[in-house]
Amino acid sequence: MVDAEVDDISFLSASGESMKHGGNYEQMGISHTRQLVCSQRKATCVALAAAAVILAVAMISAFSRPTIEHCHIGNNSLHDATQAKPIVGLADGTSEPFPWRSTRLPRTIRPSQYDIHLQINLTEFHVNASVSIVMQVSEPTEYIILHSNNLTITSYYLKSHKTLRKIAITKLLFYKRWNLVAFRLQRALYANEELDLTIEYNMPLRDKLTGLYRSSYVDDDGKKRYIATTQFEPNSAREAFPCFDEPAFKAVFAIQIIRDKGLVSLSNKPAEPPHQFLKDEGFDWEVDVFRQTPKMSTYLVAIIVCDFKSKSDITGNNVQVAVYAPKAKIDQVDFALNITIKILDFYEDFFQIRYQLQKLDLIAIPDFKAGAMENWGMVTYRETAILYNENESSSAAQERVAIVVAHELAHQWFGNLVTMDWWSDLWLNEGFASFVEFLGTDHVKPEWNMMDQFVLTETQVAMVTDALASSRPLTVEVNDADEIDLLFDSISYQKGAAILNMLQGFLTLPILKKGLTRYLTLHEFGNAKTSDLWDALTQVSREQQQNLDVVTIMNSWTQQMGYPVVTISRQGNVLKARQQRFLLNQDTVTNFTRPQDESSYGYVWNIPITYYTESHPSDVQLIWMNRNTELNFADNFNLDGNPEWIKANVNQTGFYRVKYDQKNWDALIRLLKSNHHVLSPADRSGLLDDAFSLSFGFYVAPKVALDMSEYLSEERDYVPWQTALQHYYKLLVLCEEKPIYRPLKKYVLELLSPVVTYIGWQDTGSHLDKYLRSTVMRHACWLDHPDCKVKVLSMFRAWMVNGTKIAPNLRSVVYGNAIKYGGDEEWEFAYKQYQDTRTPSEKKELLQALTTTTDMWHITQILDYSLQPEKIRKQDMFFVLIGVANNRLARWHVWRFVQSSWDTIIDIYGASSYNTLLKITTQHFTTEFDYNELNRFLMSRNCTLRAARQALELVRHSVEWVDRNEELIEKWLRDKSRM
Ligand SMILES: *[C@@H]1O[C@H](CO)[C@@H](O)[C@H](O)[C@H]1NC(C)=O
Ligand SMILES: *[C@@H]1O[C@H](CO)[C@@H](O)[C@H](O)[C@H]1NC(C)=O
Ligand SMILES: *[C@@H]1O[C@H](CO)[C@@H](O)[C@H](O)[C@H]1NC(C)=O
Repeated sequence: MVDAEVDDISFLSASGESMKHGGNYEQMGISHTRQLVCSQRKATCVALAAAAVILAVAMISAFSRPTIEHCHIGNNSLHDATQAKPIVGLADGTSEPFPWRSTRLPRTIRPSQYDIHLQINLTEFHVNASVSIVMQVSEPTEYIILHSNNLTITSYYLKSHKTLRKIAITKLLFYKRWNLVAFRLQRALYANEELDLTIEYNMPLRDKLTGLYRSSYVDDDGKKRYIATTQFEPNSAREAFPCFDEPAFKAVFAIQIIRDKGLVSLSNKPAEPPHQFLKDEGFDWEVDVFRQTPKMSTYLVAIIVCDFKSKSDITGNNVQVAVYAPKAKIDQVDFALNITIKILDFYEDFFQIRYQLQKLDLIAIPDFKAGAMENWGMVTYRETAILYNENESSSAAQERVAIVVAHELAHQWFGNLVTMDWWSDLWLNEGFASFVEFLGTDHVKPEWNMMDQFVLTETQVAMVTDALASSRPLTVEVNDADEIDLLFDSISYQKGAAILNMLQGFLTLPILKKGLTRYLTLHEFGNAKTSDLWDALTQVSREQQQNLDVVTIMNSWTQQMGYPVVTISRQGNVLKARQQRFLLNQDTVTNFTRPQDESSYGYVWNIPITYYTESHPSDVQLIWMNRNTELNFADNFNLDGNPEWIKANVNQTGFYRVKYDQKNWDALIRLLKSNHHVLSPADRSGLLDDAFSLSFGFYVAPKVALDMSEYLSEERDYVPWQTALQHYYKLLVLCEEKPIYRPLKKYVLELLSPVVTYIGWQDTGSHLDKYLRSTVMRHACWLDHPDCKVKVLSMFRAWMVNGTKIAPNLRSVVYGNAIKYGGDEEWEFAYKQYQDTRTPSEKKELLQALTTTTDMWHITQILDYSLQPEKIRKQDMFFVLIGVANNRLARWHVWRFVQSSWDTIIDIYGASSYNTLLKITTQHFTTEFDYNELNRFLMSRNCTLRAARQALELVRHSVEWVDRNEELIEKWLRDKSRM
C-alpha cells in the first residue's frame, strides 16, 4: 500500500500533505509532497556515550518500571502463536470456552482454493454471498477455525472433497474480539483429509473504508452514483468473506460477481467472456466469471462493481493495461497509463521475471483510505494518486502519480509474487517498494533527479522517528490487528527504503538485481522472511567474489531500532571513528524505553563508512566499521596530501549521521561558503541535516548549523534548501512563544531573500526549480515576506474577477496565502471552487487553503465539515486537521477538536490513525504545560500504543531543547548583527 500522504505532516500552511502508509496504510503521504514543508522529522536527538547509556538502560529497566508503562500495547499480543494451546476465553454469548486462544490461526488446516460468489446490490447496498473453501488437514482436529468479521452467516456445510460425504457441524462459535469463528465438528478430522467447507452469508454494503465497501461520486448530471470496492490490507478480507486471513495461507481464488446490467465488475483476473445473464423474478442481472488467480494471499484480492470508463494499452510483452475512472475524469488517466506501460516493461527486465497475470487494471476510487493498494492485477488508487490534469495539476502532483504507480507495480513482484511470511516483515514489502519506486520513476522521468530527492523523502524522514527511544526495529513481533495496522509507518516505508539504498550502495546494483531475481524465483507463489532475502544476496555476493556477509551486516540494521552517529576526529593524519546510538534526547531515554527494547546487538552497527577528502574529492573510499565502537583509521584511511577536510557518508547513502571535530566542521563550512559545488546537492543536504539534527539532539551547539546554513545565500538547488527550510521551520516553531522568535524570523527572511529574488513568481524552469520556487515562496509567505501579500492577493483576485487561472505550481502558495490575507469573499470563492472542481489535486489544494483563514468562525466550520462526509470526504479529514494545525492562530482548535471527537475518529480510521492524529496535534507543543496536557489526555484514554509514547517523547524534547538553547541562539543572532 501507499499511504494517503498524511504521515509526514507538513507544517506550512496550505501545504501539508504526505503520508505514506495506507493509513492509513501506505503512508498517507509518503511525504512525497514537496509541498510540504516541514515535518517533525527534524527533531533530532542525541546520545552521549552509547555504551554507557545502554548499560544504564538495561539496569534501570531491570529495576524500575518504565515511566509510561500504561502506554504500551496490551498483553494479549504477547502470545506466541505457535505455542498457543486451545481453550480459555468464552465464545461470544455462551458459557462455552472458545476452542482457540491466539490471534494467529492454528496450522492444522490449510486452504488451497476459494470459490467466492457475490451478488452485489448497489441500490439496496446489500451483498449476498457464498464461499466454498477447499482445504487440507495436516493434523487431527475437531475444529475448523477461520476469520470472519461482522458477516451474517446464514448456512454452512462441510463435506469430504473426494467422497462428497457430509461431515456434520455441531456448533458455530464466535470470538469477535479477534474476528474468529470456529466450526465444531461431530467427528475428528484426520491428517491428509481434504474438505470442502461452504458458507453462505450476507452483509450490508456500508460507506466505510475497509473490507468490501461503497464509495460514491456525483456524475455530470448531478446524479449520485455508487460503486462497490475493496481495501483488504492488512486485516480486512475477513470483512468480505470468511477466510484464513493471514498472508502465509496462500490459495487460488475463483470469483464470480452478480451485478446489475450496465455496470462493470472487476477483479484480479480478467472475466471470461461472454457475460452470463441471469433472470430472477424479472430482474436483469449479469454474472462475471473471473478466471482463477495464481496462488496468492487474501489481502491481495480485489472486487469492484462500478460504472466507470477505461482507457487501455498493451505492454511490450502483451500485458493488457487499463485505467478506470468516472466518465468525467477519464481524460485525466493518460499519464498514469503511459507510465504504467513503460514501468511494467522496465520491471520485467529489472527482475528478470515476467509479470504473472494477463492484465493489469488501475482504478481511481473516490473514497479511499490509503494512497493506493497493490491488489494483484487490480490496483486501487486514491484519485490524487492516479489522476493528472496537465493544465491544472502541479509538478508535485504529477510526481506523486508516478511514484505511487511505480510503488504499486513493484509490489506485483515483491509482495504479490513473493509475500512476507507474516506482518512482522511488512517492512520488506513496503521498504522494498519504496526503494524501487525511485528506480521505476527515474526510468520514465530521468530529468526529475529522483535519486537526489531520495535523501529528502526517505532517509531524512526515517531518521527523525528512528531517533526516538520509542522507535521500533524494522522486524518486530506483532499479533493483533491494531499492532499490525500501526506497522504502516515511516519505519517500514522510509527506513526500509533507506537501508535498501545503503545496501545497494555497498553491494552495487548488478549484484542486488541478481540476488533479487534469485530470491523471487526461489520463493515464487510462496512466502519468505527477511533472512531469505539476505541469504540470496549473500550467495550472489559470494559467487561474484565480493564475499559480503549480507546476513550479518543487515541484521544489525533490521533487528534493532535506531541508527548510529559516527564521530570522526583527527589528529594529524590519524583519524578516529567512534559509533554510538543517535538519540533525540539521551537524558530521557530511560523514560521512554521498555524492557523489551533491549537489543541483542547492543545498539552497535555494521557501518559502511564512505568518504572523500579535499585532496581527492572524486575518489570515494569505503571502510567497514563492523560493530566495533571505536576504529582507528591510521592504517586504512587515505589522507594523502594532508587534506583540510573530509566528507563522510557520501551522498547520505548510509543510514547514519556523522559528527566531525570542530576543525573539520569549520573547513566544510568555509568550503560551502567559497565553492559549494564541490559537494553534490545530496551531500550539501546531508551536511545540513546532520548539523541541525546533531544540534536538536544536543550533540553540537546550534552555532554549527547556523554557521553552516549561512552559505544558503548562494544556494540555488532545491534539495539542500528543502532540508534547511524544514529545520528552520522546526526551529521557528520551537521558539514561537519566546522573545527570540522575532529576531530569528527576521534572520530567516534575510537568508531567503536572495533565492526569493532569484526564483521569482514565474512558473518556469526544471522540475526541481519548480519545487524550489514552491518551497521558498511558501516559507517566505509564512514569514510575511513583504512582496508576498501583494502578489498572492493580486493573482487570486485576477482569478476571482477575470477568471485568470494561476499557474499550477504556484497554486498552493497563492491559494493558501490569499485566504490567509483575504476575507470572506476569498474564502467563499475558494469553497465554491473546492466543491466544483473535477481535478482531484486541485480539490486538495483548495481544501488545504480553506484552513489557512484567520477567521475563527470559518475555522470552526471547516473542522465541523471534516466530519460530515457529504461536505468533505472521510478520506480527506486528515488534510483539514493538518491544515488547521499549521495555522498558527487556529492550531489549538485542532487539539480541542481531536480530543472531543477522538472516539468518532478512531472508529472511522482505525488504530493506524493514532500516529497521524497525535503527530498533527502535538507538533507545536513546546511547554511543560502542553506536555502535561497531552499526558493527562493519553492517560484518560488509557492510551496503549507506541504512537503515544512517541508523541510524549517528542514534546518532552521540545520543552527541554528550547530551555537549553534559547540563549545560545539569541547570542548567535546578536553576534551576527554586530558583525
Ligand atoms: C457490524 O455491521 C452492522 C450492520 O450490519 C453495523 O451496524 C455495525 O456497526 C458493525 N459492527 C462493526 C464492529 O463494524
Ligand atoms: C438490487 O436491488 C434492486 C431493487 O430491489 C433491484 O431492482 C436489482 O435488480 C437488484 N440488483 C442486484 C444485482 O441484486
Ligand atoms: C501519453 O502518451 C502519448 C503517446 O506517447 C502522448 O501523446 C501523451 O502526451 C502522453 N500523455 C501524458 C499525459 O503524458
